[in-house]
Amino acid sequence: MPGPSTLTNLVEFFWRDGFSRIHELQQKHIHEYGRIFKSRFGFQFVVSIADRDMVAQVLRAEKDTPQRASMESWQEYRDLRGRSTGLISAEGKKWLTMRSILRQRILKPRDVAVYSGEINEVVADLIKRIQTLRSQEVDGETVTNVNDLYFKYSMEAVATILYECRLGCLNNDVPQQTLDYIAALELMFSMFKTTMYAGAIPKWLRQFIPKPWEEFCRSWDGLFRFSQIHVDNQLREIESQMEKGKEVKGGLLTSLLISKELSLEELYANMTEMLLAGVDTTSFTLSWATYLLAKNPQIQQTVYNQIVENLGKDVVPTAEDIPRVPLVRAVLKETLRLFPVLPGNGRVTQEDMVLGGYLIPKGTQLALCHYSTSYDKEYFSAAEDFQPSRWLRHGYLDRVENFGSIPFGYGIRSCIGRRVAELEIHLVLIQLLQKFEIRTSPKTQSVLPKTHGLLCPAGAINVRYTDRREGQ
Ligand code: HEM
Repeated sequence: MPGPSTLTNLVEFFWRDGFSRIHELQQKHIHEYGRIFKSRFGFQFVVSIADRDMVAQVLRAEKDTPQRASMESWQEYRDLRGRSTGLISAEGKKWLTMRSILRQRILKPRDVAVYSGEINEVVADLIKRIQTLRSQEVDGETVTNVNDLYFKYSMEAVATILYECRLGCLNNDVPQQTLDYIAALELMFSMFKTTMYAGAIPKWLRQFIPKPWEEFCRSWDGLFRFSQIHVDNQLREIESQMEKGKEVKGGLLTSLLISKELSLEELYANMTEMLLAGVDTTSFTLSWATYLLAKNPQIQQTVYNQIVENLGKDVVPTAEDIPRVPLVRAVLKETLRLFPVLPGNGRVTQEDMVLGGYLIPKGTQLALCHYSTSYDKEYFSAAEDFQPSRWLRHGYLDRVENFGSIPFGYGIRSCIGRRVAELEIHLVLIQLLQKFEIRTSPKTQSVLPKTHGLLCPAGAINVRYTDRREGQ
């Protein structure tokens, strides 16, 4: 099997900062070696696949406990601190048990539909925040670095579901606890490379290069601390309700605390890992959607027209309304095709398999190159263009399924927060478009993606939020 040599990889990643160009390197390597190629990173041997049908073959062949990649460093931290693994870091039977418990509560659209009211309250705060921020600009319309805004929206929205409380991220004065969490999260991502090394550097080397491992542990400490505070708060609230003889009602966390299907440590770990997985992913996607809509005013107008015709200008939408605006869903799918938050994913083969004519032994680390398949002209016509309408169904039986773009993954180990993310994004996009025309501003620059753990905007996205006029 062809592929880059270890030396080429070392130069590319460590000398030419390949870590921030993983998406580009995928394309470069595919161009040079084809849609299946091998690489070596130190001791790690990886087979990359950038072929839609091979990706489908791998994911469809999965048994009951698929493994993404080795999570040794995450496991080591948890062992060191006596913490549990959560869905992202757990493997085998433990993962399967936790997944079955959580899946019943948040994996179906109707499980999360009940949160529309809470999410809409956060949307209302976001709109107020936009109004405040743009009033501080000379033109009264531009908001700079929308990702900061959407980060706060995503964190606030997901926390209303995970912790059943408001964090105050969109307030003028963000509470200290929340700021501490954001700092821990930033440390985790800003230290992306160092935390990668934390896992990659052999343990005996840590005494000479201690910083990566120390920072890795420090950021996890902050993330776990935050979740524990909120889980404990909710537990106290439930106990107090019970003492008063009241019927305890609530959402996801309350139901998990009452059912006791997960231990308290498992709950801390899952809340920590779900919050970690649920903030940047959603906020980067919203930033890109905003950017693409601003850059494509005609498409934006078509989406707006559909919202007005099918829902109305001022109706506050709920989950039940979303199927009536298929273009909004299509905007999200197309945004994630062009900017898949996870540009690549991993799987460890659990049996020998033949892929592209090669025998791949059991236990091989596969890299699924989603970014490349998303841009493959064989799978998507005019692949570079933003064309949400490509995702519209033309008949009841028409399924627009394409393994070239599976931004939430596929199958039993796919994203458990998919329906949460979709609800947060659909509801906010509808209301932003009802209220504003999103336009480029003299401050809007071309923004390219970079890989920073996730695929994120390499620069600030600045756009205008112009009030919609009567009759528009
Ligand atoms: C636009 C937003 C999001 C995108 C694009 C996204 C994408 C993904 C992808 C690609 C995976 C890996 C799937 C696989 O290996 O097959 C994943 C896993 C996961 N995601 Fe998301 N995600 C998003 C939002 C969220 C949210 C809001 C949450 C939490 C509420 C969340 C929680 C998780 C968890 C816990 C996993 C691990 C699942 C497991 O291993 O069982 N994600 N996500």
